[in-house]
Amino acid sequence: LDATVGAGGHSRLLLQGDPEVRIIAFDRDDRAITAAQSQLAEYEDRVEFFHSDFREAPKLLKGRRLDGVLADLGVSSLQLDDPESGFSFRRSGPLDMRMDRRQSEKAADLVNRLDERELARIIRIYGEERHASRIAAAMVTARRRAPITTTGELAEIVRGAVPRAGVGGSRIDPATRTFQGLRIAVNGELEELDVFIREAGEMLRPGGRMVIIAFHSLEDRIVKRTFLALAGKREVNRQLPELQNAPPLLRILTRKPVRPGAEELERNPRSRSARLRAAERV
Ligand SMILES: C[S@@+](CC[C@H](N)C(=O)[O-])C[C@H]1O[C@@H](n2cnc3c(N)ncnc32)[C@H](O)[C@@H]1O
Repeated sequence: LDATVGAGGHSRLLLQGDPEVRIIAFDRDDRAITAAQSQLAEYEDRVEFFHSDFREAPKLLKGRRLDGVLADLGVSSLQLDDPESGFSFRRSGPLDMRMDRRQSEKAADLVNRLDERELARIIRIYGEERHASRIAAAMVTARRRAPITTTGELAEIVRGAVPRAGVGGSRIDPATRTFQGLRIAVNGELEELDVFIREAGEMLRPGGRMVIIAFHSLEDRIVKRTFLALAGKREVNRQLPELQNAPPLLRILTRKPVRPGAEELERNPRSRSARLRAAERV
């Protein structure tokens, strides 16, 4: 199961590597499904596509057994680089951020509807942004004049609200964290990730492996804690009481997350925050 097929890069390597491999490919973005279908055209008879949230996979694939599960979480370069998707603060576009265009609520709806406290909460918790209150206040002031409708406007509001980093400060755009927070909220990215990990783990054959790549610490914390709980670590089970008496389902293969090395960072700077964790079905 490639839970996040994106443009099909990972699936392609798996298909190339072994003529026996068959892939069930999920993505909630129809543009990704179209891109992956064309990228993987030569392997057509070995790939089955589902335009769906991967959290639906256990239900949709009921009774099927898997040898491997891969989830490369978050947004793809396709999405980030397309101003029309509304994720980019570098090139202005509609304030959208939906991965699945069938969903009705866009980032602009949240930004113009939520009260200041709720906006601040999303930006602080999901964006891990220290200046969340100031940013939320600036958003509310701006939208009184006119609704905020583009990523460019929002980025300017955020940049105006946060203190400038001094010389030698961070070179990361001040809008980065706010955009991350809104994106996570719009797409419900952290919801039921733990349930998916457990259900997908149950679909693995003994010896089958699950590999998850997370791109921010909130997501990685969920992966780490869920792996530990499913590996029968009592300490963590106290926090996930429903797993209290369950026998271990997984064995953790990565005591620490695997990070990109210098060469990979050079080739693909977007890998900088990736953390990969793997586990095996016992
Ligand atoms: C980092 S990209 C994956 C790139 C892919 N591994 C490749 O090699 O091209 C993440 C993809 O996951 C999709 N995605 C994120 N959350 C999802 C979810 N809950 N269900 C299905 N797809 C999701 C996004 O739409 C995006 O296309």
